[in-house]
Amino acid sequence: MNILVCGGAGFIGSHVAAALAAAGHQPVVFDNLSAGHRWAVQWGPLVEGDLLDQALVESTLRTHRIDAVVQLAGSINVGESMQNPGKYFRNNFAISLSLLEAMDAAGVRRIVFSSTAAVYGIPATSPIPEHAPKAPINPYGEAKYFVERLLHWYTQARGFQCLALRYFNAAGADAEARIGEMHSPETHLIPLVIYAAMGQRPPVKIFGTDYPTPDGTAVRDYIHVADLARAHVSGLEYLAAGGASNALNLGTGQGASVLEVLAAVAQVSGQPVPHEFHDRRAGDPPHLVAQAGQAASLLNWQPSRSQILTIVEDAWRWSRKAIDTGLYSE
Ligand code: UFG
Repeated sequence: MNILVCGGAGFIGSHVAAALAAAGHQPVVFDNLSAGHRWAVQWGPLVEGDLLDQALVESTLRTHRIDAVVQLAGSINVGESMQNPGKYFRNNFAISLSLLEAMDAAGVRRIVFSSTAAVYGIPATSPIPEHAPKAPINPYGEAKYFVERLLHWYTQARGFQCLALRYFNAAGADAEARIGEMHSPETHLIPLVIYAAMGQRPPVKIFGTDYPTPDGTAVRDYIHVADLARAHVSGLEYLAAGGASNALNLGTGQGASVLEVLAAVAQVSGQPVPHEFHDRRAGDPPHLVAQAGQAASLLNWQPSRSQILTIVEDAWRWSRKAIDTGLYSE
C-alpha cells in the first residue's frame, strides 16, 4: 500500500514510516517540519507542507496514489495546551478536519489516527478499558477526542474506515539507532533522565512522591515506539481487510513508576541518576495503565520491546548517538 504519513518527520511518525517500509509498504511523509526533522525522513519522499492547505493535500493523495493515511501531525505538549488552547485546537483538531475533507474529495477513506490516553483524563479505574468515560482535563486531550468524534461521523456519513490508536507513554528508539526522540523543549521523563545521567542536563526533578502508588511516584504504561509503529501497520492492514472503525488503547497493561524508570537508567548507565524531589506537577494523574487486550485480539498485535529496560537501552543508544553526531542540543 501507499501510505501518507502526516507528521512522518516526528518521533512516532518516523518509526511508523520505518515499520511500513519493513512490512513492504511505501510511506510518503507529509510534514511542515515545525517540530519534525528532515533527517528522520529515511524511507520515502517528503512532501513539505501544511495540512490546512487542502489543495496540496488533495494533489498529494492523487499524485502518490495513496491508499490510506496515518495522521500523527500535531502539537504534543500538554502543559502548553493549558496556556494556549487555540494552538492545540488548530494544530490537533482543525488540521485533522482539513485532512479529512481533502481525503473525502480525493476518495481516500481509510485513516489511522494518533490519539492519546489523555482522552480519559483522570480515570476512576486503572487499567483503563476503552469504554471508560472520556473526560479530558486539558485542551490537548480534548482536541484529540474531538478528532475521534469527527472520525465517528465520517464513518457514519461518508463511508470512512477509521482507527484511533490511544497511545499511553511512547518511549524508546529504533533498535539500530537510525532515528529516535528529539523534542525541543524536551518534557518527557525518559529522555530527561537519560540526558541527566549523561551529564548533559541538570538533575531530574521527580514530580510528586506522595501519590497513592507503591513507591509514592506516578505510574505510567511505557510503550516502545517500535511496538507502537507496528500497531499502525497492523491497523492499516486491518482496515484494508474491511475492518470496522474503532478506537483502541496501545499500551502494555504494565506500569512503571518514576523511581523505577530512574532505576532502569541507573542499571544501564552503571551509576545512580542525579535527581531532586519536587511537588506534583499540576494535572498529572497518579496512575495511567492501559487495559491492552482489544488491540491484541483485533490487530493480532503484541508489544515485544516494551520491557522498561529494553526501552531505556534503546533510548540510551540513540541519545548517545544524538550527542556524538551533534543532533542533540539542550
Ligand atoms: N515526570 C517527572 N519529572 C520530569 C518529567 C516527568 O517526574 O521531569 C513524571 C511526570 O510527572 C509523570 C511521568 O514522569 O508522572 C511521565 O511524564 P511524561 O511527561 O514523560 O509523560 P506524561 O505521562 O505526562 O504524558 C504522556 C505524553 C503526552 C500524553 C500523555 C497521555 O507525553 O503527550 O502521556 O496521558 F498526552
